[in-house]
Amino acid sequence: MFPVQAPFPQTRFRRARQSGAIRALAQENHLAVGDLIWPVFVCEGENVEQPIASMPGVSRLSVDRVAQAASKAFDLGIPAVCIFPYTPLEKRTKDCAEAWNPENLSNRATRAIKAVVPEMAVMTDIALDPYNIDGHDGFVVDGQILNDETVEALVKQAVSQAEAGADIIGPSDMMDSRIARIRGALEAGGHTNVMLLSYSAKYASGFYGPFRDATGATGALKGDKATYQMNPANTDEALRLVARDLQEGADMVMVKPGMPYLDVCRRVKDTFGVPTFAYQVSGEYAMIEGAVRNGWLDGDKVMVESLMAFKRAGCDGVLTYFAPRFAKLMQGKSAVV
Ligand code: PBG
Repeated sequence: MFPVQAPFPQTRFRRARQSGAIRALAQENHLAVGDLIWPVFVCEGENVEQPIASMPGVSRLSVDRVAQAASKAFDLGIPAVCIFPYTPLEKRTKDCAEAWNPENLSNRATRAIKAVVPEMAVMTDIALDPYNIDGHDGFVVDGQILNDETVEALVKQAVSQAEAGADIIGPSDMMDSRIARIRGALEAGGHTNVMLLSYSAKYASGFYGPFRDATGATGALKGDKATYQMNPANTDEALRLVARDLQEGADMVMVKPGMPYLDVCRRVKDTFGVPTFAYQVSGEYAMIEGAVRNGWLDGDKVMVESLMAFKRAGCDGVLTYFAPRFAKLMQGKSAVV
């Protein structure tokens, strides 16, 4: 499709840009607070807030504080939070058993948020890295990351999260067959309404660095994640992974990181037409926020522009650390122009 248009001066493109009112009418894509999922970091203790140096403006919060923060976020219109735990070192083991402990930080945070704001959607993360002494998303034996044994553990982790009350489960581990296995276990356990938002196209990216500081995985991780996360040079493979995950029972799919992979978002949306999310990851946040705090960029402007890019690329929603800041900016407004 290419629009037919008259030559100048019958067509003057600047007519459609002449005022805020006209620009609003001519705007093609829209970004709303309701498009956002807010990732939060949870730590032990009570009334604790620990700032994360490599993510200025973001802190780990204790369970009580995270429930308060989620409630405020929901009042601002943010529909969902995504929980990431900072597991104490002594609970990180080779067998990762803390991952399916009903009393682990993630499950306690889910219950606390649900107790305060039951209408808010709680998303949780499936992967072993917060619980693994080796820092990897799967079990490590002789330097190899095991697939099938890891999937067994991920299934137990998913069931424990569903039992705690998670609405959306996000497998971020990139093991093969996990969506089918988790879906089967959720159905068998009566968790028929729990949604799977699969990190289908998750790349082995350098942009996760600050997140690994936030969850305490930086020191533990030996080597990289290239044997399970995607090669940043590939896009056809992303489509095959999305197709596979949909066939296995994913309700929604994700591309991660976000801004460097907008082409992948567009291809996924065009090819499958399913609910498609991007994760604007910690390194993307840190780049923008670092420059803003140095006075080099206008914070609100680049935040909105960076989020709008995902809508333009076909995404239905975005996981972003900017969610509360964007929600505050939007207070009393229905759209950004
Ligand atoms: C862990 C996980 C990671 C992120 C989300 N889940 C890090 C990784 O794969 O090493 C990254 C999020 C971010 O950088 O904001 N499975």
